[in-house]
Amino acid sequence: MGIDKREYQQRREQLMTKIGNGTAIFRSAPMAVMHNDVEYVYRQDSDFYYLTGFNEPEAVAVFAPHHEEHRYILFVQPKDPKKETWTGYRCGVDAAKEIYGADEAYPIAELDEKLPQYLLNADRIYYCLGRDKNFNNVIISHWQRLMARYQKQGTVPLAIEDTRPVTFPMRLHKSPAEIAMMRKATEISAKAHNRAFEFARPGVYEYQVQAEIEHTFRLEGGIGPAYPSIVASSANACILHYIENDRAMQDNELLLIDAGCSYGYYNGDITRTFPVGGKFTAEQKTLYELVLEAQLKAIAEVQPGKPYNEFHDMAVCVLVQGLIDLGLLKGDLEEIIQEEKYKPFYMHRTGHWLGLDVHDVGVYMHNQESWQILQPGHILTVEPGIYISPYIQPAEGQPEIPDRWKGIGIRIEDDLLVTETGHDILTAAVPKSVGDMEK
Ligand code: GLY
Ligand code: MN
Ligand code: MN
Repeated sequence: MGIDKREYQQRREQLMTKIGNGTAIFRSAPMAVMHNDVEYVYRQDSDFYYLTGFNEPEAVAVFAPHHEEHRYILFVQPKDPKKETWTGYRCGVDAAKEIYGADEAYPIAELDEKLPQYLLNADRIYYCLGRDKNFNNVIISHWQRLMARYQKQGTVPLAIEDTRPVTFPMRLHKSPAEIAMMRKATEISAKAHNRAFEFARPGVYEYQVQAEIEHTFRLEGGIGPAYPSIVASSANACILHYIENDRAMQDNELLLIDAGCSYGYYNGDITRTFPVGGKFTAEQKTLYELVLEAQLKAIAEVQPGKPYNEFHDMAVCVLVQGLIDLGLLKGDLEEIIQEEKYKPFYMHRTGHWLGLDVHDVGVYMHNQESWQILQPGHILTVEPGIYISPYIQPAEGQPEIPDRWKGIGIRIEDDLLVTETGHDILTAAVPKSVGDMEK
Protein backbone atom coordinates (compact mmCIF):
# COMPACT_ATOMS: atom_id res chain seq x y z
CA MET A 1 0.00 0.00 0.00
CA GLY A 2 1.10 3.54 -0.59
CA ILE A 3 0.99 6.32 -3.09
CA ASP A 4 2.31 5.18 -6.44
CA LYS A 5 4.62 7.10 -8.74
CA ARG A 6 1.84 7.95 -11.16
CA GLU A 7 -0.13 9.68 -8.45
CA TYR A 8 2.86 11.81 -7.47
CA GLN A 9 3.25 12.68 -11.12
CA GLN A 10 -0.43 13.60 -11.40
CA ARG A 11 -0.08 15.87 -8.37
CA ARG A 12 2.88 17.60 -9.96
CA GLU A 13 1.00 18.02 -13.24
CA GLN A 14 -1.91 19.54 -11.36
CA LEU A 15 0.42 21.91 -9.53
CA MET A 16 2.11 22.94 -12.78
CA THR A 17 -1.23 23.60 -14.46
CA LYS A 18 -2.14 25.84 -11.55
CA ILE A 19 1.09 27.85 -11.56
CA GLY A 20 1.01 28.53 -15.31
CA ASN A 21 4.10 30.53 -16.19
CA GLY A 22 5.37 30.66 -12.64
CA THR A 23 8.15 28.68 -11.01
CA ALA A 24 7.37 26.96 -7.72
CA ILE A 25 10.02 26.17 -5.13
CA PHE A 26 9.55 23.81 -2.20
CA ARG A 27 12.14 23.08 0.44
CA SER A 28 12.43 19.91 2.50
CA ALA A 29 12.01 20.14 6.27
CA PRO A 30 15.25 20.74 8.18
CA MET A 31 16.72 18.05 10.38
CA ALA A 32 15.65 18.90 13.94
CA VAL A 33 18.20 18.62 16.73
CA MET A 34 17.09 17.00 19.97
CA HIS A 35 20.26 17.96 21.85
CA ASN A 36 24.00 18.14 21.29
CA ASP A 37 24.68 16.08 18.15
CA VAL A 38 21.55 13.96 18.55
CA GLU A 39 18.78 14.39 16.06
CA TYR A 40 15.05 13.68 16.08
CA VAL A 41 13.64 11.12 13.70
CA TYR A 42 13.34 12.96 10.42
CA ARG A 43 9.91 14.27 9.45
CA GLN A 44 9.57 15.56 5.91
CA ASP A 45 7.65 18.76 5.15
CA SER A 46 4.14 17.68 4.16
CA ASP A 47 3.86 19.81 1.00
CA PHE A 48 7.28 18.62 -0.13
CA TYR A 49 6.34 15.01 0.52
CA TYR A 50 2.95 15.37 -1.12
CA LEU A 51 4.57 16.52 -4.36
CA THR A 52 7.69 14.37 -4.41
CA GLY A 53 7.39 11.35 -2.09
CA PHE A 54 11.02 12.17 -1.30
CA ASN A 55 11.90 11.69 2.35
CA GLU A 56 15.33 13.25 2.86
CA PRO A 57 16.45 16.58 4.32
CA GLU A 58 18.59 19.12 2.43
CA ALA A 59 16.51 18.92 -0.72
CA VAL A 60 14.74 21.46 -2.91
CA ALA A 61 12.07 20.75 -5.53
CA VAL A 62 11.56 23.20 -8.37
CA PHE A 63 8.65 23.20 -10.81
CA ALA A 64 9.14 25.22 -13.96
CA PRO A 65 6.36 24.29 -16.40
CA HIS A 66 7.53 26.93 -18.89
CA HIS A 67 11.11 25.62 -19.07
CA GLU A 68 12.01 24.01 -22.37
CA GLU A 69 13.80 20.96 -21.01
CA HIS A 70 13.18 20.49 -17.31
CA ARG A 71 9.82 21.02 -15.68
CA TYR A 72 10.55 19.16 -12.46
CA ILE A 73 13.96 19.54 -10.88
CA LEU A 74 15.27 18.05 -7.65
CA PHE A 75 18.29 19.26 -5.71
CA VAL A 76 19.39 16.55 -3.28
CA GLN A 77 22.26 15.45 -1.07
CA PRO A 78 24.76 13.55 -3.23
CA LYS A 79 25.76 9.99 -2.39
CA ASP A 80 28.55 9.96 0.18
CA PRO A 81 29.30 6.51 1.61
CA LYS A 82 31.28 7.93 4.52
CA LYS A 83 28.52 10.27 5.66
CA GLU A 84 25.86 7.67 4.96
CA THR A 85 27.60 5.38 7.44
CA TRP A 86 26.73 7.87 10.13
CA THR A 87 23.51 9.50 9.08
CA GLY A 88 21.80 6.95 6.88
CA TYR A 89 21.11 6.10 3.31
CA ARG A 90 20.89 8.85 0.69
CA CYS A 91 19.16 8.34 -2.60
CA GLY A 92 21.65 10.52 -4.49
CA VAL A 93 21.40 12.55 -7.65
CA ASP A 94 20.94 9.76 -10.22
CA ALA A 95 18.13 8.05 -8.35
CA ALA A 96 16.37 11.39 -7.88
CA LYS A 97 15.70 11.14 -11.61
CA GLU A 98 15.29 7.38 -11.93
CA ILE A 99 13.16 6.73 -8.85
CA TYR A 100 11.54 10.06 -8.10
CA GLY A 101 10.87 11.07 -11.67
CA ALA A 102 12.72 14.40 -11.80
CA ASP A 103 13.55 15.66 -15.30
CA GLU A 104 16.84 16.88 -13.91
CA ALA A 105 18.63 16.54 -10.59
CA TYR A 106 21.62 18.27 -9.05
CA PRO A 107 23.59 18.13 -5.82
CA ILE A 108 22.09 20.59 -3.36
CA ALA A 109 25.40 22.50 -3.28
CA GLU A 110 24.69 23.59 -6.88
CA LEU A 111 21.40 25.29 -6.04
CA ASP A 112 22.69 28.86 -6.34
CA GLU A 113 24.34 28.15 -9.66
CA LYS A 114 21.50 26.17 -11.26
CA LEU A 115 18.36 27.82 -9.91
CA PRO A 116 18.41 31.08 -11.96
CA GLN A 117 17.83 29.33 -15.29
CA TYR A 118 14.50 28.07 -13.91
CA LEU A 119 13.42 31.48 -12.65
CA LEU A 120 14.48 33.63 -15.57
CA ASN A 121 11.37 33.23 -17.73
CA ALA A 122 8.86 32.83 -14.94
CA ASP A 123 6.23 35.52 -14.45
CA ARG A 124 6.31 34.92 -10.67
CA ILE A 125 7.91 32.75 -8.05
CA TYR A 126 5.68 30.53 -5.97
CA TYR A 127 7.25 30.02 -2.58
CA CYS A 128 6.02 29.80 1.00
CA LEU A 129 7.81 32.55 2.90
CA GLY A 130 8.12 32.13 6.63
CA ARG A 131 8.77 28.43 7.09
CA ASP A 132 12.54 28.69 6.92
CA LYS A 133 14.10 32.12 7.42
CA ASN A 134 17.54 31.27 6.07
CA PHE A 135 16.08 29.81 2.94
CA ASN A 136 13.77 32.81 2.53
CA ASN A 137 16.92 34.89 2.14
CA VAL A 138 18.26 32.57 -0.54
CA ILE A 139 15.07 32.90 -2.57
CA ILE A 140 14.74 36.65 -2.05
CA SER A 141 18.32 37.29 -3.12
CA HIS A 142 17.81 35.24 -6.29
CA TRP A 143 14.70 37.21 -6.99
CA GLN A 144 16.43 40.52 -6.36
CA ARG A 145 19.25 39.59 -8.72
CA LEU A 146 16.66 38.93 -11.40
CA MET A 147 14.80 42.15 -10.65
CA ALA A 148 18.03 44.02 -11.27
CA ARG A 149 17.69 42.85 -14.88
CA TYR A 150 14.11 44.08 -15.20
CA GLN A 151 14.95 47.30 -17.07
CA LYS A 152 17.01 45.55 -19.68
CA GLN A 153 14.90 42.48 -20.02
CA GLY A 154 11.33 43.29 -19.12
CA THR A 155 10.52 39.66 -18.39
CA VAL A 156 11.49 38.64 -14.92
CA PRO A 157 9.35 37.21 -12.13
CA LEU A 158 7.62 40.24 -10.64
CA ALA A 159 6.24 38.72 -7.47
CA ILE A 160 6.64 36.03 -4.88
CA GLU A 161 3.32 34.32 -4.43
CA ASP A 162 2.51 31.97 -1.56
CA THR A 163 2.20 28.30 -2.47
CA ARG A 164 -0.55 27.61 0.07
CA PRO A 165 -3.50 28.62 -2.12
CA VAL A 166 -2.09 26.17 -4.68
CA THR A 167 -1.35 23.16 -2.47
CA PHE A 168 -4.05 23.47 0.24
CA PRO A 169 -7.03 22.63 -2.00
CA MET A 170 -5.09 19.76 -3.56
CA ARG A 171 -4.23 18.25 -0.17
CA LEU A 172 -7.66 18.92 1.31
CA HIS A 173 -9.26 16.63 -1.25
CA LYS A 174 -8.06 13.09 -0.56
CA SER A 175 -7.55 10.69 -3.47
CA PRO A 176 -8.60 7.01 -3.26
CA ALA A 177 -4.99 6.05 -2.48
CA GLU A 178 -4.82 8.65 0.29
CA ILE A 179 -8.13 7.45 1.69
CA ALA A 180 -6.66 3.93 1.81
CA MET A 181 -3.69 5.31 3.77
CA MET A 182 -6.05 7.11 6.12
CA ARG A 183 -8.04 3.91 6.60
CA LYS A 184 -4.86 2.14 7.62
CA ALA A 185 -3.72 4.95 9.96
CA THR A 186 -7.13 5.05 11.64
CA GLU A 187 -7.39 1.26 11.79
CA ILE A 188 -4.09 1.04 13.70
CA SER A 189 -5.14 3.97 15.91
CA ALA A 190 -8.39 2.15 16.70
CA LYS A 191 -6.56 -1.08 17.57
CA ALA A 192 -4.32 0.84 19.94
CA HIS A 193 -7.29 2.45 21.69
CA ASN A 194 -9.01 -0.90 22.11
CA ARG A 195 -5.85 -2.38 23.59
CA ALA A 196 -5.50 0.57 25.97
CA PHE A 197 -9.10 0.15 27.10
CA GLU A 198 -8.42 -3.48 28.03
CA PHE A 199 -5.18 -2.59 29.80
CA ALA A 200 -6.18 0.44 31.89
CA ARG A 201 -7.21 -0.24 35.48
CA PRO A 202 -6.76 1.37 38.90
CA GLY A 203 -3.11 1.54 39.96
CA VAL A 204 -1.73 1.62 36.41
CA TYR A 205 0.31 4.66 35.42
CA GLU A 206 -0.74 6.83 32.51
CA TYR A 207 2.62 6.18 30.82
CA GLN A 208 1.99 2.45 30.94
CA VAL A 209 -1.19 2.94 28.95
CA GLN A 210 0.79 5.19 26.60
CA ALA A 211 3.30 2.36 26.14
CA GLU A 212 0.51 -0.05 25.17
CA ILE A 213 -0.78 2.41 22.62
CA GLU A 214 2.55 3.28 21.06
CA HIS A 215 3.60 -0.37 21.05
CA THR A 216 0.61 -1.08 18.85
CA PHE A 217 1.45 1.79 16.51
CA ARG A 218 4.88 0.38 15.75
CA LEU A 219 3.87 -3.25 15.84
CA GLU A 220 1.28 -2.61 13.16
CA GLY A 221 3.69 -0.81 10.85
CA GLY A 222 3.00 2.79 11.81
CA ILE A 223 5.77 5.37 12.06
CA GLY A 224 4.68 6.16 15.63
CA PRO A 225 2.42 8.69 17.31
CA ALA A 226 0.93 11.32 15.02
CA TYR A 227 1.30 13.76 17.95
CA PRO A 228 2.35 13.33 21.58
CA SER A 229 -0.14 10.85 23.07
CA ILE A 230 -2.41 12.33 25.73
CA VAL A 231 -3.19 9.85 28.50
CA ALA A 232 -4.95 11.96 31.10
CA SER A 233 -6.63 10.57 34.18
CA SER A 234 -9.00 12.52 36.38
CA ALA A 235 -8.47 16.31 36.33
CA ASN A 236 -5.49 15.94 33.97
CA ALA A 237 -8.13 15.52 31.28
CA CYS A 238 -9.04 19.19 31.75
CA ILE A 239 -5.61 20.15 30.38
CA LEU A 240 -6.13 19.89 26.65
CA HIS A 241 -2.53 19.10 25.73
CA TYR A 242 -1.55 17.14 28.84
CA ILE A 243 1.39 14.94 27.83
CA GLU A 244 3.29 14.30 31.07
CA ASN A 245 1.40 11.01 31.41
CA ASP A 246 3.08 10.29 34.75
CA ARG A 247 0.22 9.75 37.19
CA ALA A 248 -1.17 6.52 38.64
CA MET A 249 -4.88 6.33 37.87
CA GLN A 250 -7.45 5.49 40.51
CA ASP A 251 -10.82 3.88 40.81
CA ASN A 252 -13.80 6.22 40.30
CA GLU A 253 -11.82 8.37 37.85
CA LEU A 254 -12.12 8.81 34.15
CA LEU A 255 -9.26 8.29 31.74
CA LEU A 256 -9.13 10.42 28.60
CA ILE A 257 -6.89 9.07 25.84
CA ASP A 258 -6.22 11.20 22.76
CA ALA A 259 -3.80 9.30 20.55
CA GLY A 260 -3.36 8.56 16.87
CA CYS A 261 -0.97 6.68 14.67
CA SER A 262 1.01 8.12 11.79
CA TYR A 263 1.15 5.66 8.92
CA GLY A 264 3.21 6.65 5.89
CA TYR A 265 2.78 10.22 7.20
CA TYR A 266 -1.04 9.97 7.15
CA ASN A 267 -2.54 10.43 10.59
CA GLY A 268 -5.26 9.08 12.82
CA ASP A 269 -6.61 11.15 15.72
CA ILE A 270 -8.94 9.45 18.20
CA THR A 271 -10.12 10.36 21.69
CA ARG A 272 -12.00 8.13 24.06
CA THR A 273 -12.88 8.68 27.72
CA PHE A 274 -13.88 5.85 30.03
CA PRO A 275 -14.03 4.97 33.73
CA VAL A 276 -10.76 3.51 34.99
CA GLY A 277 -12.53 1.17 37.41
CA GLY A 278 -15.17 0.07 34.91
CA LYS A 279 -18.15 2.06 36.27
CA PHE A 280 -19.12 5.71 35.78
CA THR A 281 -20.10 7.80 38.79
CA ALA A 282 -23.45 9.56 38.38
CA GLU A 283 -21.85 12.88 37.42
CA GLN A 284 -19.38 11.27 35.03
CA LYS A 285 -22.15 9.35 33.32
CA THR A 286 -24.37 12.42 32.98
CA LEU A 287 -21.60 14.43 31.35
CA TYR A 288 -20.44 11.52 29.20
CA GLU A 289 -23.95 11.06 27.84
CA LEU A 290 -24.11 14.76 27.06
CA VAL A 291 -20.79 14.79 25.19
CA LEU A 292 -21.80 11.65 23.31
CA GLU A 293 -25.13 13.19 22.33
CA ALA A 294 -23.29 16.30 21.12
CA GLN A 295 -20.86 14.16 19.14
CA LEU A 296 -23.54 11.99 17.51
CA LYS A 297 -25.62 15.02 16.55
CA ALA A 298 -22.53 16.82 15.25
CA ILE A 299 -21.55 13.75 13.20
CA ALA A 300 -25.02 13.77 11.61
CA GLU A 301 -24.19 17.26 10.28
CA VAL A 302 -21.17 15.98 8.37
CA GLN A 303 -22.71 15.67 4.91
CA PRO A 304 -21.56 16.74 1.46
CA GLY A 305 -22.91 20.18 0.62
CA LYS A 306 -23.11 21.33 4.26
CA PRO A 307 -21.03 24.31 5.39
CA TYR A 308 -18.06 23.42 7.60
CA ASN A 309 -19.36 25.26 10.70
CA GLU A 310 -22.61 23.34 11.08
CA PHE A 311 -21.29 20.34 12.97
CA HIS A 312 -19.49 22.63 15.41
CA ASP A 313 -22.56 24.79 15.92
CA MET A 314 -24.64 21.68 16.53
CA ALA A 315 -22.17 20.37 19.14
CA VAL A 316 -22.13 23.72 20.95
CA CYS A 317 -25.91 23.90 20.93
CA VAL A 318 -26.32 20.40 22.44
CA LEU A 319 -23.60 20.96 25.05
CA VAL A 320 -24.94 24.34 26.15
CA GLN A 321 -28.54 23.11 26.40
CA GLY A 322 -27.32 20.14 28.45
CA LEU A 323 -25.30 22.35 30.78
CA ILE A 324 -28.33 24.63 31.23
CA ASP A 325 -30.50 21.61 32.06
CA LEU A 326 -27.95 20.54 34.68
CA GLY A 327 -27.88 24.02 36.22
CA LEU A 328 -24.21 24.46 35.35
CA LEU A 329 -25.06 27.34 33.01
CA LYS A 330 -28.01 29.65 33.35
CA GLY A 331 -29.83 31.93 30.96
CA ASP A 332 -30.95 31.94 27.38
CA LEU A 333 -29.39 29.36 25.06
CA GLU A 334 -28.81 31.79 22.20
CA GLU A 335 -27.37 34.44 24.46
CA ILE A 336 -24.97 32.04 26.18
CA ILE A 337 -23.74 30.90 22.78
CA GLN A 338 -23.56 34.42 21.38
CA GLU A 339 -21.62 35.69 24.39
CA GLU A 340 -19.50 32.52 24.55
CA LYS A 341 -20.35 31.98 28.20
CA TYR A 342 -19.94 28.24 27.71
CA LYS A 343 -16.22 28.64 26.99
CA PRO A 344 -15.02 27.78 30.53
CA PHE A 345 -16.47 24.28 29.81
CA TYR A 346 -15.73 24.00 26.11
CA MET A 347 -12.90 26.13 24.78
CA HIS A 348 -11.91 24.45 21.52
CA ARG A 349 -13.59 23.92 18.19
CA THR A 350 -15.29 20.65 17.35
CA GLY A 351 -12.92 19.46 14.66
CA HIS A 352 -10.24 20.04 12.07
CA TRP A 353 -9.12 18.67 8.73
CA LEU A 354 -7.02 15.54 9.02
CA GLY A 355 -4.46 14.10 6.63
CA LEU A 356 -0.72 14.42 6.11
CA ASP A 357 -0.80 16.93 8.97
CA VAL A 358 -2.86 16.20 12.07
CA HIS A 359 -4.27 19.68 11.86
CA ASP A 360 -4.34 19.40 8.13
CA VAL A 361 -4.26 22.15 5.55
CA GLY A 362 -7.26 23.59 3.79
CA VAL A 363 -9.20 26.76 4.46
CA TYR A 364 -12.19 26.63 6.77
CA MET A 365 -13.63 29.84 5.46
CA HIS A 366 -13.64 31.80 2.20
CA ASN A 367 -13.68 35.61 2.15
CA GLN A 368 -14.13 35.82 5.93
CA GLU A 369 -17.81 35.06 5.63
CA SER A 370 -18.71 31.92 3.71
CA TRP A 371 -17.67 28.62 5.24
CA GLN A 372 -16.00 25.89 3.26
CA ILE A 373 -18.58 23.44 1.93
CA LEU A 374 -17.99 19.80 2.86
CA GLN A 375 -17.24 17.66 -0.17
CA PRO A 376 -16.64 13.97 -0.82
CA GLY A 377 -12.96 13.29 -0.16
CA HIS A 378 -12.66 15.66 2.80
CA ILE A 379 -11.47 14.04 6.04
CA LEU A 380 -12.08 15.72 9.38
CA THR A 381 -12.36 15.04 13.09
CA VAL A 382 -15.46 15.52 15.22
CA GLU A 383 -14.39 15.99 18.84
CA PRO A 384 -16.65 17.77 21.29
CA GLY A 385 -15.83 17.76 24.98
CA ILE A 386 -16.66 19.12 28.40
CA TYR A 387 -13.92 20.12 30.82
CA ILE A 388 -14.73 21.08 34.40
CA SER A 389 -11.36 21.96 35.79
CA PRO A 390 -10.91 22.14 39.58
CA TYR A 391 -10.00 25.78 38.86
CA ILE A 392 -12.90 26.55 36.53
CA GLN A 393 -13.91 30.21 36.49
CA PRO A 394 -17.51 30.55 35.37
CA ALA A 395 -18.26 33.41 32.98
CA GLU A 396 -19.66 36.61 34.42
CA GLY A 397 -23.11 36.15 35.93
CA GLN A 398 -22.91 32.35 35.69
CA PRO A 399 -23.33 30.00 38.67
CA GLU A 400 -20.48 28.65 40.77
CA ILE A 401 -19.82 24.99 40.02
CA PRO A 402 -20.52 22.49 42.83
CA ASP A 403 -17.43 20.44 43.75
CA ARG A 404 -18.96 17.13 42.70
CA TRP A 405 -18.63 18.17 39.04
CA LYS A 406 -15.05 19.35 39.28
CA GLY A 407 -12.12 17.41 37.91
CA ILE A 408 -14.14 15.76 35.14
CA GLY A 409 -12.82 16.11 31.59
CA ILE A 410 -14.43 14.26 28.68
CA ARG A 411 -13.78 14.31 24.94
CA ILE A 412 -14.94 11.90 22.26
CA GLU A 413 -13.19 12.16 18.91
CA ASP A 414 -13.71 10.30 15.65
CA ASP A 415 -12.30 10.71 12.16
CA LEU A 416 -14.77 11.06 9.32
CA LEU A 417 -14.52 10.81 5.56
CA VAL A 418 -17.13 12.84 3.71
CA THR A 419 -18.68 10.60 1.02
CA GLU A 420 -21.10 11.17 -1.88
CA THR A 421 -24.03 10.21 0.30
CA GLY A 422 -22.98 11.25 3.80
CA HIS A 423 -19.93 10.18 5.74
CA ASP A 424 -17.91 7.18 6.73
CA ILE A 425 -16.65 7.03 10.33
CA LEU A 426 -13.11 5.73 9.87
CA THR A 427 -12.70 5.13 13.59
CA ALA A 428 -15.99 3.31 14.21
CA ALA A 429 -14.10 0.23 15.44
CA VAL A 430 -13.54 1.95 18.81
CA PRO A 431 -16.68 1.63 20.93
CA LYS A 432 -18.12 4.70 22.63
CA SER A 433 -21.61 3.91 23.90
CA VAL A 434 -22.10 4.27 27.66
CA GLY A 435 -22.56 0.53 27.98
CA ASP A 436 -19.39 -0.21 26.02
CA MET A 437 -17.34 2.15 28.17
CA GLU A 438 -18.16 0.23 31.34
CA LYS A 439 -16.46 -3.03 32.20
N1 GLY B 1 -4.83 15.50 19.28
C1 GLY B 1 -4.91 16.74 18.67
C2 GLY B 1 -6.28 17.10 18.36
O1 GLY B 1 -7.19 16.39 18.70
O2 GLY B 1 -6.53 18.07 17.72
MN1 MN C 1 -8.19 16.25 16.80
MN1 MN D 1 -7.06 14.32 19.16
